[in-house]
Amino acid sequence: TEVAQIRSSLLEWYDKNHRTLPWRRNAHSQLTAAVVAAAAADGSFPAPAELPRNEFIYYVWVCEIMSQQTQVARAAEYFRRWMARWPTVQALAAASQEEVNELWAGLGYYRRARYLLDGAKYIVGQLDGSFPTTAQELQSIPGVGAYTSAAIASIACGQHVAVVDGNVIRVLARLRRLGGDPRSGAATRLWAQLAEQLLDPDRPGDFNQAVMELGATVCVPNTEPKCGECPVSASCQAYKEVQRYAREGGITG
Ligand code: ADE
Repeated sequence: TEVAQIRSSLLEWYDKNHRTLPWRRNAHSQLTAAVVAAAAADGSFPAPAELPRNEFIYYVWVCEIMSQQTQVARAAEYFRRWMARWPTVQALAAASQEEVNELWAGLGYYRRARYLLDGAKYIVGQLDGSFPTTAQELQSIPGVGAYTSAAIASIACGQHVAVVDGNVIRVLARLRRLGGDPRSGAATRLWAQLAEQLLDPDRPGDFNQAVMELGATVCVPNTEPKCGECPVSASCQAYKEVQRYAREGGITG
């Protein structure tokens, strides 16, 4: 089916092309042995592949909060320093807001730094240091809403729940050639529904990250999407339409 085709093309593309980010479980598998040895020697941060689930959830939580309103590549620099300083949620919970803000300097939107410290205190104080593992329960953490809870639950816990952010909406809108106001209430439900239908049942976390990654690197905003590099252009309604216009001479400039 077309849905199966989209899933496999997108995951295959993601496996080959995803950016190496320090919070990805497979990040270290893509680094050379020398880089891994150096990271281990200076204790800069543990390899995600070796983390138990609770610590991996901590990684994904911090990175997803950092990535809101901040470019992923820039968040990655701060993430490394953050994990060198507070490698566990217990370590973070013992920090002061001043220390956290100091490390946060330059990222902006300091409310996110407060959420992380408040969240760590809540996890350690109320939940004995154990993160919840479902999207619904994760929303009890201060500052964790629909997007962040879905990202954590799918990436770190393998839960079948779709993420919907700006990149995902743009990809879905083009794929299905949907117009309208993407911020209206009806549209919000529609995006969630579409994303849920498309989500790969076997690899929900990778699939979610693949759609976000596609939106950030290929299916970019405005007039310059890189359709020539897109793994799902064969299934894309917007791409078909553009080609049709081009064939019929409807686009001249
Ligand atoms: N943007 C925010 N979180 C992301 C993730 N986990 N992968 C790709 N892009 C992202």
